[in-house]
Amino acid sequence: MIEKLTQKFQELYGGQGDIRAYFAPGRVNLIGEHTDYNGGHVFPCALTLGTYVVARSREDRVLRFYSMNFDSLGVIKATLDDLVPDEKASWTNYPKGVMWAFEKRGFQLTHGLDIAIYGDIPNGSGLSSSASLEVVTGIMLKDVFSFEQLSMTDIALIGQDSENNYNGCNCGIMDQFASAMGKKDYAIFLDTNTLNYEYVPVMLKDAKIVIINSKVKHSLVDSAYNDRRNECEIALKELQTVTDISSLGELTEEEFETYKDVIQSPVRQKRAKHAVYENQRTIKAVEALKDNNVELFGQLMNASHASLRYDYEVSCEEIDILVDLAQAMPGVIGSRITGGGFGGCTVNIVKNEVVDVFITEIGKEYKEKVGHEAEFYVVDIGDGARVLR
Ligand code: GLA
Repeated sequence: MIEKLTQKFQELYGGQGDIRAYFAPGRVNLIGEHTDYNGGHVFPCALTLGTYVVARSREDRVLRFYSMNFDSLGVIKATLDDLVPDEKASWTNYPKGVMWAFEKRGFQLTHGLDIAIYGDIPNGSGLSSSASLEVVTGIMLKDVFSFEQLSMTDIALIGQDSENNYNGCNCGIMDQFASAMGKKDYAIFLDTNTLNYEYVPVMLKDAKIVIINSKVKHSLVDSAYNDRRNECEIALKELQTVTDISSLGELTEEEFETYKDVIQSPVRQKRAKHAVYENQRTIKAVEALKDNNVELFGQLMNASHASLRYDYEVSCEEIDILVDLAQAMPGVIGSRITGGGFGGCTVNIVKNEVVDVFITEIGKEYKEKVGHEAEFYVVDIGDGARVLR
């Protein structure tokens, strides 16, 4: 891939000089959904799919961006002196947002860049194509401008800042963290309250991780996401009138049951319940995996889905069809929605011997019920962001 992208870069911008290349992956979250802005735990892993960047320094302050994924938009120009979000700037708002966040922290970008990009994460699939673009921009800037003092955690935090304050989505830290910190064959057990983390080997013995892309993305995604966040924040304030906590992630299920009646609305009670129970489920799921109890891990994934469907209400009809079909199939260990919700993907643990049947059967039934095809990816867990050259 990188050869093709470099060739395109040279065609567009000319062939000389110090051309460098970078990669940052997308992610799939195995369990721990909508817990990362509630001070809870998440358990994502990096994919081998992601975003590639080829870049070269310029002597002036001009930025030139090109993406093979948006070829018809051609080369989009900007300057370091005008880093403000602009609807017309399309996808370049992501790398520009990261540049803005560097400068905001006092990391001065002293010259412009020519940049060419390609990503193989399906757009809008909920596998963090935007986080991977933010993180790959971060490692590029760190390398080009020799900001050695920045850790990979800093790069993730800068990416999240750019998403929150430049691109207007109030996301948590999970996606950027997974993209920056991923490790081949391991998932990351991250405490989003402290950013302490542990790599846990994902040994599924005779099973594989299969992602199904529903190929739907309902338009309310960002506003509904921000609504859920607000509901959890209000529920937290209500709970704080009776218990001394700073996030929902600090409560056990029993504590929640004791205090829940101070939450004035039934909807907010369900939202907070999900945040508390999902966090505890994630802790239990990681224990199960460490004990080689893949079956229990799968049951907890199924319970996670039910909670996201009925209590947090971030699933949708198409996703529920996929999960119902999967959970009913022999040889499927666990199945749930993954990512922000309202479309996107499901993540499934499927026994090797039924993977083919899983894909053909569910593919066929989904098409019949929904009217379009789903896409299936049997995935490997990859490494985090890195300099390629
Ligand atoms: C999106 C956000 C993450 C996280 C998930 C839900 O992917 O970017 O921060 O909140 O939704 O778990």
